[in-house]
Amino acid sequence: MQNALSIHKLKKTYGNGVEALKGVSLEVPEGDFFALLGPNGAGKTTIIGVVTGLVNKTEGTVSVFGHDIEKEPETARAQIGVVPQEINFNPFEKCIDVVVNQGGYYGIPRKTAIPYAEQLLKDLGIFDKRDMTGWTLSGGMKRRLLIARALIHQPRFLILDEPTAGVDVELRRGMWDYLKTLTEKGVTILLTTHYLEEAEQLCKHVAIINKGEIAASGTMEEVLALHDGATPKDGYRGGRLEEVFLKLTRE
Ligand SMILES: Nc1ncnc2c1ncn2[C@@H]1O[C@H](COP(=O)(O)OP(=O)(O)O)[C@@H](O)[C@H]1O
Ligand SMILES: [Mg+2]
Repeated sequence: MQNALSIHKLKKTYGNGVEALKGVSLEVPEGDFFALLGPNGAGKTTIIGVVTGLVNKTEGTVSVFGHDIEKEPETARAQIGVVPQEINFNPFEKCIDVVVNQGGYYGIPRKTAIPYAEQLLKDLGIFDKRDMTGWTLSGGMKRRLLIARALIHQPRFLILDEPTAGVDVELRRGMWDYLKTLTEKGVTILLTTHYLEEAEQLCKHVAIINKGEIAASGTMEEVLALHDGATPKDGYRGGRLEEVFLKLTRE
């Protein structure tokens, strides 16, 4: 099976000299539900920025379903839907228009986009907000609107940067369920999250990144097997993934 995403020895040094990525390699197989985990500042958003064409890489190669992002940027980008970490839609636009207008960037006529956008809003439980402006939505609803917007061109690969940040537990569960239905339809998902227990339960593959370098990656079972079974010093026992995460990312 081909990879939805292949990243080889990716380096990024920002203009101010920060080495955000120091040679990251990772592969996301088609159909995967992949968790990219790491503490704040590890380089997760930078990886997503490079893959989606918002950040220029310094070195290395990236391809999306075999399409090199440098040689075939449009083809690579057309496969991807992205839910950014920052809420970045126009707050004065109606929810339905946020989604339909995004379709315009992919050449989808309004006539086709409107019914599909409505279906997405229904599936995400925000159809009743269709004619409200974005700024009137709660935090969780804004996140769901970003997901609908990311899906309007029916991408095969959905990338979500902390989609459940600041979302309460019940809505989070609903979102994870929704993402699971997408993977069952064949959409490949890569997400970053701080909710390690949820990632542990749902994701097939995982990579843990720390200070611009991959500290561990593999199937969830392989990464969980790095857990040594010792009780942490403070006596608190979280999920196994959380303990592996702390072991690999602690100073
Ligand atoms: N536009 C930028 N200019 C300079 N440094 C940046 C920029 N964006 C991110 N960084 C730095 O790069 C590192 C990785 O950041 P980021 O990719 O946002 O990490 P994460 O998403 O894992 O929290 C951090 O040290 C951050 O301060
Ligand atoms: Mg980030």
